[in-house]
Amino acid sequence: MSANPLTPQPQATAPSGQASTPTPAKTDRKSSAARVQLPTDEELVLKVIPLPRDCNANGDIFGGWVMAQVDLAGAVIPARYTQGRMATVAVNEFVFKQPVRVGDILSFFSKLVRIGRTSITVKVEVYAEHFRLQGQYTKVTEASLTYVAIDEQGNPREVPKPTPPDTM
Ligand SMILES: CC(C)(COP(=O)(O)OP(=O)(O)OC[C@H]1O[C@@H](n2cnc3c(N)ncnc32)[C@H](O)[C@@H]1OP(=O)(O)O)[C@@H](O)C(=O)NCCC(=O)NCCS
Repeated sequence: MSANPLTPQPQATAPSGQASTPTPAKTDRKSSAARVQLPTDEELVLKVIPLPRDCNANGDIFGGWVMAQVDLAGAVIPARYTQGRMATVAVNEFVFKQPVRVGDILSFFSKLVRIGRTSITVKVEVYAEHFRLQGQYTKVTEASLTYVAIDEQGNPREVPKPTPPDTM
């Protein structure tokens, strides 16, 4: 039986009794995959850990699963503005830069790109860190998504004007 990648593994202990330097976890990600800093001008809107059930036949995380998470994450900021029903109208760009593995912790960052009459466009970036080697991030996916505010009949409606803080 293989080890559960989500279960923290015991650290090796040096003969002196002091903890040894942890061995870098195997990630199978291309060695060219750049370690990057997390964005400071975007909001963390979702963190999630893919499980074996989210894999494709190759054992990598299924792209459709990643897309579903990006759609959920992308909806967080628009929901603040639409204040009601909305629908995803377009995924204008979707790039899988690196594979996602079971045991990665995925962090979804988002920022507002544009507020239109009935639509809101956001950018979403996804960063992976290994469960057992946290704090080192690789950008795995980025996307641009547009959501439309809709009424009860499913027709587009205007995005409400933000209420000035001093009138609340
Ligand atoms: C969302 C929906 C209500 C929009 O209706 P529509 O008649 O196409 O609406 P419009 O043409 O008036 O466009 C509405 C807004 O979407 C924007 N939009 C439409 N198509 C777009 C596209 N391909 N890319 C970016 N924005 C788009 C328009 O620019 C407009 O924005 P604005 O008012 O801010 O300028 C309708 O297309 C729909 O129900 N789609 C299915 C939604 C859905 O099921 N999503 C989940 C799929 S998994």
